[in-house]
Amino acid sequence: MKINPVKGTHDIYSSTANDALDLEYTFNVMAMAYGYEPIVIPTLEHTNLFQRSVGESSDIVTKEMYTFLDKAGRSLTLRPEFTAGIMRAVVTNKLYVDNIPLRLFYNGSCFRYERPQAGRYREFHQMGVELIAPTNPGLDAEVIALGFAYLKEIGLNPILKINYLPAKDSREKYLKDLKAFFEPNLDNMCEDCKRRYEINPLRILDCKVPSDREIIEKAPSISTYLSDDDLKHYNEIKRFLGNIGISYEEDDRLVRGLDYYSGIVFEYYFDTDNSDFAGIALGGGGHYDGLLQELDGPSEYSGVGLSFGLERLISAYQNADTEYKGTGMRPIFYMAPLSEEGLDLAHTLATFLHENSVHTILNYEIKSLKSFLKSANKKQARNIIIIGEDELKKGFVTIKNLESGVQHEVAIDDFPEIVFSILKENYEDDDGEIQSLDITKGN
Ligand code: HAM
Repeated sequence: MKINPVKGTHDIYSSTANDALDLEYTFNVMAMAYGYEPIVIPTLEHTNLFQRSVGESSDIVTKEMYTFLDKAGRSLTLRPEFTAGIMRAVVTNKLYVDNIPLRLFYNGSCFRYERPQAGRYREFHQMGVELIAPTNPGLDAEVIALGFAYLKEIGLNPILKINYLPAKDSREKYLKDLKAFFEPNLDNMCEDCKRRYEINPLRILDCKVPSDREIIEKAPSISTYLSDDDLKHYNEIKRFLGNIGISYEEDDRLVRGLDYYSGIVFEYYFDTDNSDFAGIALGGGGHYDGLLQELDGPSEYSGVGLSFGLERLISAYQNADTEYKGTGMRPIFYMAPLSEEGLDLAHTLATFLHENSVHTILNYEIKSLKSFLKSANKKQARNIIIIGEDELKKGFVTIKNLESGVQHEVAIDDFPEIVFSILKENYEDDDGEIQSLDITKGN
């Protein structure tokens, strides 16, 4: 019986799986460079965690959660995002004790019951960071800069949109004025907007219905409601970004789809002529106050974080003309034994390479050189190690660089030493990027 994948889910395999691994690996390395520590949290949480944090006015909580009763009748939800679960974990494990600013990064799947379409899945993957500390514009800017630097690193030209959501009193005033503005238009607006009007009118600004957008464009701008403190903080963040040459567009309609934000909010797009990516955010995030407190954690700390969607990064990366070469998921060596005896030697050498964490492929078969070359190229191997009759007779192997075409005979006794000198000199360049091996240096 043929069983299809669940609607909105998908398999990631072959070169796309390699791209996924590369993109995640680069994100993790970059997060660690900024001082973030890994955290792994459960996929399942109590439903009220998301109700209380992501919020009753968000589409996620009202329409998109995978919620069910377990056998003991508890209401559980598959995480639709990470921030709430991370805050729960921070409180559960008191991770804030003697560890502030607390910097955490994560990768994993999320679940949202959305209408599947390009760049929108029901199970998708996020990678992100959360930073918990007393509010500080430098820390807000750090998180924004990390996401920006990451997109640059993987060869996507980032477009950064930012906005600032005012704190309590100014926000109350803005919400009141928004309500007054939308009230006479409400009959002509979508059902979601009518609901948002009652629960959180700010979320109307996020509505994508074209006829609603025309009305929304005329709504009062949030930027005129910022208090002196808000403005000071916002300007400081912009100054920090300016100091390191990060450009941004200010968008006073950017409110994000989750209720917990206050302060800076931002989204990343990328510069492309491909209209398939128009309006598709690769990632986003912002500052939030009160989430820890809401979960009975300390009140003196706020948070700021971002998440990227892996699937969107993969398709952006695959469609972009990027020079990013990945982090080395391609095999360094592909073994090509041309006889039984050659296979024994190939086995010994491949074992040595495997034990030393050098990416090497040996398929325990004897084929023609032509056929090995075809397979090695298909796997995008950087070098092939040929062990033919001639090689065995003379006690050497031939290492051919498949990129440059240059080949060299390496005496078996010298093999370990030469492989290591090659790897040491060529494995990483000054930026830590893994390079193709130039085996000429070994001889
Ligand atoms: P979000 O904007 O809801 O923010 O999601 C972040 C990213 O996840 C999006 O920009 C998008 O790339 C990806 N994404 C969201 N939904 C889907 C989907 N259905 N299919 C594919 N990709 C999707 C958050 O989740 C916040 N927790 C971000 C954050 C972290 N704020 C503070 N800290």
